[in-house]
Amino acid sequence: MDIWDTLRTRQDAIAERPILALFEGTDRAAEFSLSTQYMAFDYSKTNIDADTRADLIALAEAAGVAQKRDAMFAGEKINATEDRAVLHTALRNLDGGSVMVDGQDVMPEVHATLERMRTFSKQVRSSNITDVVNIGIGGSDLGPAMAVAALAPYHDGPRCHFVSNVDGAHIADTLRGLDAKTTLVIVASKTFTTIETMTNARTARAWMVDHGGDPETQFTALSTAEDKTGQFGIDPAQVFGFEDWVGGRYSLWGPIGLSLMIAIGAEGFDTFLRGAQAMDTHFKAAEPLENMPMMLALVGIWHNQICGYATRAVLPYDQRLNMLPDYFQQLEMESNGKAVQMDGSDVDNNTGPVVWGAAGTNGQHAFYQLIHQGTRVIPCEFMVAANGHEPELAHHHHLLVANCLAQSEALMQGRSLTQARKIMADKGLSGEALERQARHRVFPGNRPSTTLVYERLDPFTLGQIIALYEHRVFVEGVILGINSYDQWGVELGKELATSLQPVVEGTAGTDGKDGSTAALVEYLIKHRDR
Ligand code: F6P
Repeated sequence: MDIWDTLRTRQDAIAERPILALFEGTDRAAEFSLSTQYMAFDYSKTNIDADTRADLIALAEAAGVAQKRDAMFAGEKINATEDRAVLHTALRNLDGGSVMVDGQDVMPEVHATLERMRTFSKQVRSSNITDVVNIGIGGSDLGPAMAVAALAPYHDGPRCHFVSNVDGAHIADTLRGLDAKTTLVIVASKTFTTIETMTNARTARAWMVDHGGDPETQFTALSTAEDKTGQFGIDPAQVFGFEDWVGGRYSLWGPIGLSLMIAIGAEGFDTFLRGAQAMDTHFKAAEPLENMPMMLALVGIWHNQICGYATRAVLPYDQRLNMLPDYFQQLEMESNGKAVQMDGSDVDNNTGPVVWGAAGTNGQHAFYQLIHQGTRVIPCEFMVAANGHEPELAHHHHLLVANCLAQSEALMQGRSLTQARKIMADKGLSGEALERQARHRVFPGNRPSTTLVYERLDPFTLGQIIALYEHRVFVEGVILGINSYDQWGVELGKELATSLQPVVEGTAGTDGKDGSTAALVEYLIKHRDR
């Protein structure tokens, strides 16, 4: 029997075991949690026991996670389908040594670009620029947009806006009310070919020209394609380049993070990088049992691949992290949504789960009903800080924390029919009415969750949290035998959109299109304002 089978057999045997029972007579909370100097991760409210955990660790060892991790940090071309190294970690390797790719140390260039970004952001922050508009999509948008929102208390630079959708509503709503003479536009695109970004960038340039701004000095580009930024007309002095070994959804740590640096300043950005670097150091050095990304990944594998829970909810109890579920959605689903292994063979497992969620407490009033009483089990990943940033509103924060902890407690404990009957009896019900009402008030419980706690959501901690999840995705990808660093699955839709554009514009016919698509195009053209 291989380790996968062993784990599945264990799962069959313990499927009905109450998680609560695992706490009896042991210090489970201590044994099934781990901490770094800066945060603690509790996975005691899952059905993982010591034997299961040992098997999960064996699974990671058999997959060669440690060797592949070292290969990644060393700049080996582990992104084999694109023949690229995977070195977003080099972007935050502030105090580390050299990192070689194709026989060349990439660190001098990383430091030089970072220094240029620092100088540029200082200039912007002390200039007349009041607003920064970052135009990008996917990793060129979600990362900086999420991080700028998360670090609002540290934001002392110009206002930052983010435009991603090709829907003209997005750029129109964003530019309305901005002063073109005091706005800096950042065009963020690794490839500088993404149709949404290029369309929005051209619209922004036309707006700037029409409204008295100067695109020559007020446009900046962040890209690996410096030839294309030049063709667009952006002065090379205003271009911040990076290399193809930085994946789009892993690019926040370098030039793509420029808007964040402008928002919180170069020192704050350095602290953010140092937080991620601390997590890198921990990931490289800690033994599996003490290794946070490793254990987070193994909990994920247990829930998704072994227990068959198809989704997982990311539930930060922090309003400023309300974009984090979206960010993790791209990070995890674009990375591990694959069906073919590194060697070209089919994966014989489910791959990445559906990742979704929202900030607490808002989600409680939207979808938690299904999490508590629906028929599907949804593992929940809670996170909350010990402190908010509003000392005068400490009572709000206490309520927030109480709600976060209450949810994981309720999910695990549930409420039995006997307890529900008693509640109904206390309300004065009896007989058939009591029975009927009681059944609706039963919570199955035994629903797993993890909780990440930390002191405060500052730049350092945010850097840590993101790096934690990046490495979690890596570990899961290695165990599944897939390449977490390509994204071929986004190509087909892009190609078809390009071929459909003239059809929608009415300059080409629907020949060759399937009946449904042709009919939809015809409807939309027929009902278009003339
Ligand atoms: O959605 C595909 C994708 O390539 C993402 O991986 C990437 O983050 C996004 O598009 C944007 O790409 P670019 O930065 O090249 O514009």
